[in-house]
Amino acid sequence: MKVLALNSGARADGESYTTLMLNHLTEGMKDAGADVEIINLRTRKIRNCIGCFTCWTKTPGRCVHKDDMTEELFPKFLASDLVIYASPLYFHTLNAAMAAFMERTLPAALPFFEEDEDGNTYHPMRFKTPASVLLSVCGFPEMSEFDAMREFFERTRDKNSQPVAVICRAGASLLSAPQLAAKSRDVLEATRQAGRELVKNMKIAPETMERITRSLGSAKTFRKMGNIYWKTCITEGVTPGEYDRRKMVPRPQSMEDFMFMFPFGINAKAARDKKVLLQFNFTGAINESCLFRIEKGRAQAQTGGDENPDIAIDTDFDLWMDIITRKADGQKMFLEQKYKVRGDLEMMMKIFGGR
Ligand SMILES: Cc1cc2nc3c(=O)[nH]c(=O)nc-3n(C[C@H](O)[C@H](O)[C@H](O)COP(=O)(O)O)c2cc1C
Repeated sequence: MKVLALNSGARADGESYTTLMLNHLTEGMKDAGADVEIINLRTRKIRNCIGCFTCWTKTPGRCVHKDDMTEELFPKFLASDLVIYASPLYFHTLNAAMAAFMERTLPAALPFFEEDEDGNTYHPMRFKTPASVLLSVCGFPEMSEFDAMREFFERTRDKNSQPVAVICRAGASLLSAPQLAAKSRDVLEATRQAGRELVKNMKIAPETMERITRSLGSAKTFRKMGNIYWKTCITEGVTPGEYDRRKMVPRPQSMEDFMFMFPFGINAKAARDKKVLLQFNFTGAINESCLFRIEKGRAQAQTGGDENPDIAIDTDFDLWMDIITRKADGQKMFLEQKYKVRGDLEMMMKIFGGR
């Protein structure tokens, strides 16, 4: 099977979740023996259709533009058995690079009007077009984000090229969250499996699709985390790409944000069967205490303190935020007595030891 994989992701490899998903899908296709060519549309010149209909009149089947679409992509499109349209979701639909490609497949249609079995008008095709797969990722956590794009994609494919699969991954940025590594691995393994199934059966099994689209967490948690992440990008003056390259972590700016984020960054399981009360007594920008009850592998937060915590950390709020975001060295600050720890220091080291 000859597969043409069109990737309209705008971001570089390593940053783009469209590319991450497409790489796994096409690896699976290659496993099953397909001949796959991936083309990053951002590396090609595709002019917009100018609506002159030269391709329907003077030069039937050939576009008036002389660019990469006419010379390279359109012939490859017609020669393939299956085309993967891999596009990030932009404003509820395919992005502009993919839209430009689609417009420019107009020479494949004939200008004439025919009536389908439902009484609707359509253009018959001049050339036999390949079957299609839509692959997309989006930022929001809800699968309903893709509804308009699915509808658009199905409506714009002619009878031959109706989608054999629509693969959508919502909340795509969660695929790189360290706490979700096991779940993300399964999404990517299932995507590879989907590639194998497509080559063998021209369809994806419902169980495989369920694994690809499975929720990676609650929308409420996603929104809270996402807001702390974006606030960090804004205050630190970094783009998401720079944030990733510098291996930054979200920086809470309020007590509420800190209490929400802290349990994600510790290893609560390190307390084993012990119940540990860990208290922060903050000073400086925020002058309040909060308490974490660490038990059975979970940490529950509450405002205020306990008279008898197992571990108490007295620290300036901003200094602690500098430590957790790796702007300051926690050990060095401890030795310089910039903050104080009372109680079970050994347990604290275990809990802060990461996952
Ligand atoms: C211009 C623009 C429009 C977007 N529109 C949506 C949208 O409508 N819904 C959504 O959930 N995410 C939206 N996003 C987020 C992207 O879908 C998300 O960042 C995705 O991971 C981008 O693909 P990439 O990782 O391959 O670059 C938009 C992003 C941009 C830059």
